[in-house]
Amino acid sequence: MSKEEFANRRSALREMLEPEAIVILPSSPEQPRNGDVLYPYRQDSDFYYLTGFSEPQAVAVMIPGRTLGEYLVFCRESDPAAEAWNGRRAGLDGVCSEFGADDAFPITDIDDILPGLLENKKRIYYPMGRYKSFDQRLIQWVSQVGALGRSGIHAPDQFISSAQLVQEMRLFKSKFEINLMRKAAEISATAHINAMKIAKPGIKEYELEAELISTFVARGARSAAYPSIVGAGGNGCILHYIDNNSQINSGDLVLIDAGAEYEFYASDITRTFPINGRFTQEQKIVYEIVLEAQMAAIEAVRPGNCWNDPHEAAVKVITKGLVDMKILSGNLKKLIANESFRPYFMHRTGHWLGMDVHDVGEYKVDGEWRVLEEGMVTTVEPGLYFSNNIPGLDPKWWDIGIRIEDDVLVTEAGNEVLSDQAPKEVSTIEELIL
Ligand code: GLY
Ligand code: MN
Ligand code: MN
Repeated sequence: MSKEEFANRRSALREMLEPEAIVILPSSPEQPRNGDVLYPYRQDSDFYYLTGFSEPQAVAVMIPGRTLGEYLVFCRESDPAAEAWNGRRAGLDGVCSEFGADDAFPITDIDDILPGLLENKKRIYYPMGRYKSFDQRLIQWVSQVGALGRSGIHAPDQFISSAQLVQEMRLFKSKFEINLMRKAAEISATAHINAMKIAKPGIKEYELEAELISTFVARGARSAAYPSIVGAGGNGCILHYIDNNSQINSGDLVLIDAGAEYEFYASDITRTFPINGRFTQEQKIVYEIVLEAQMAAIEAVRPGNCWNDPHEAAVKVITKGLVDMKILSGNLKKLIANESFRPYFMHRTGHWLGMDVHDVGEYKVDGEWRVLEEGMVTTVEPGLYFSNNIPGLDPKWWDIGIRIEDDVLVTEAGNEVLSDQAPKEVSTIEELIL
């Protein structure tokens, strides 16, 4: 099943190539080692998207029309001694039988073989600029072929960004991908619920983080998709707070932004809740505004709407809320036009989500906000942040930082909230914590 999925992706890419092309995709480099210890390796997303192959030290090559095989992979050879230390390898046979390569070569032979594959090709599709040392090797191979001009051999003279083509493909999720994203979201939602269940005043932020990670791993997601944010009180107003080392006291809200990566697909969920199980009056006022903004934004995620429509829907509710709270005053339209909400809501309402948490894909096409289409996945994550250093802010709002974030798939009929198992109604949250 998955072998076919990856083959389909390669065929789709092939369709987009100009004639006389060669596609060269390197795997991501390995992290530096600490003595004998290997740091966790994460495959390059574009490389994995097209190959399904998660090993390091690999290069995938596609040459449409090559009679001896169009899809070639350079990879590590089987080596029982090395595998006994560092884990199994597919080897040259495995990369053909399990991953669909037409032919495979040892990665150690790439300097000898790759230049020959470049001969008489017109253009190279390649993620130029992503990995500097591979860029240099590729330029070296091309100039080696260029030096053969007198033998009637020509070298490719066009470099085309493979990233642009692949990112456009990755923006539209297949059924296979949607199922993985559902699973990533389901695991993450369970992690949020588990963190709420153990919440109690006096607990440390990292204890909640431990609960999240434990749930991710126990359910088959081997890592978080990004560093988990667990921020109590004023820490919840720091957008990328990851210290997670404060004690959470009764009366504090805690903002948790955490999502698992499952089989290379990310989830990205934020929930905010009172550690003692009861929102104060002020916390509840702000919470309900953010929730209403989030629901309005989710409602705006549907085919035919523009990328910016959910953001505009959220901004409208947030600005009106700030007026009701008497933090802003004046004409609503003007306040929105002037972005008067910015000191309290300083980020955008969402981003594409997929193999990467801030996933690839253009947000504008020809200068206009992109139209939403079936298969796209976006986060919807408005927030309000009242840190205690905002001049003139009534202290009753201090240290209230609230964000609510879900993962939303654009469907034919509208949308599907992939992360909807994570509770966000005030009453459901209060019941779960007490
Ligand atoms: N967790 C990162 C973000 O919400 O964008
Ligand atoms: Mn997030
Ligand atoms: Mn996000």
